[in-house]
Amino acid sequence: MLEVYDTERLAAAAPDEIGDALERGNIIKFVPCPIELAADEALEKLRTELPRQLKRKNVSYHPEADRVTGLDDDSPVADLAHEVLSTHRDRVTEFLRKVMPTLASNIRAGTSSFRPLEEQGRNLKPHASNELVHIDAGAYGATNGDRILRFFVNVNPAVDRVWASKGDFPTLFEVYGREAGLYDHLTPTLERGLTGKFRTSFLNGLAKVGLPLATVLDSSPYDRVMRRFHNYMKDTPAFQQSPEGHQEFRFEPFSAWMVFTDMVSHASLSGQHALIYTGIIRLEDCRLPELAPFNILRAAA
Ligand SMILES: [Fe+2]
Repeated sequence: MLEVYDTERLAAAAPDEIGDALERGNIIKFVPCPIELAADEALEKLRTELPRQLKRKNVSYHPEADRVTGLDDDSPVADLAHEVLSTHRDRVTEFLRKVMPTLASNIRAGTSSFRPLEEQGRNLKPHASNELVHIDAGAYGATNGDRILRFFVNVNPAVDRVWASKGDFPTLFEVYGREAGLYDHLTPTLERGLTGKFRTSFLNGLAKVGLPLATVLDSSPYDRVMRRFHNYMKDTPAFQQSPEGHQEFRFEPFSAWMVFTDMVSHASLSGQHALIYTGIIRLEDCRLPELAPFNILRAAA
């Protein structure tokens, strides 16, 4: 489940090697982080200031509105956060296009965030908690079957970030899909109808005029089934406690990793200070579409 790329292995990787490994449900780890990061002083300032200035779960740069959320507009680090997060977003997008020329050819860069709080013991409500194992559903809006790719960097200079997983979507759906009630909600086509398409363009319009969170309200039949599975995982103690398929991973300071978070279950058990990039990859750009949750659910329907 974990593929580690050091500088040498990355340089020698074949064009579709890393993309295919992602589609098969691997976590791809890079040691060191293959992307140029903000200067040490800038990161240090964000590590120091953001924990006390945070207004939401994350500080996030929203490209569609060119705006940072999670901080007051007059925060002394608002401009720095904007600069660091928007630059990071551009660098990650460029890197992904280079290392995954097929899969990332039409990647849509979503938010670029900084998570400045210690993950362990945050006591967030279950559905918002990162400590519980889950798959991601609807990255800031409807995906309609497109894939949620997340690229992480541990920017804590001293402490590892620790993750857990209980396996990938195909396995979890087989074991828990019925109990989670997913079959009751599978329709032969999981795509949006005409009303759904109107709703999406309306919400995208709101996002463009400065309401970046408007797209969060968007949904589709597929996204609702995924949301149900996400909630089932977080709400079911027996699932959380099950040793079946349970694995833990450590990501050292300044290592990076990426994964399809709609496919690989995950939880952040501990760690503080991470950069998190979200990109949406078109389902039609997948080389192994039969492994995508959308097509697994459609086959089951
Ligand atoms: Fe997640």
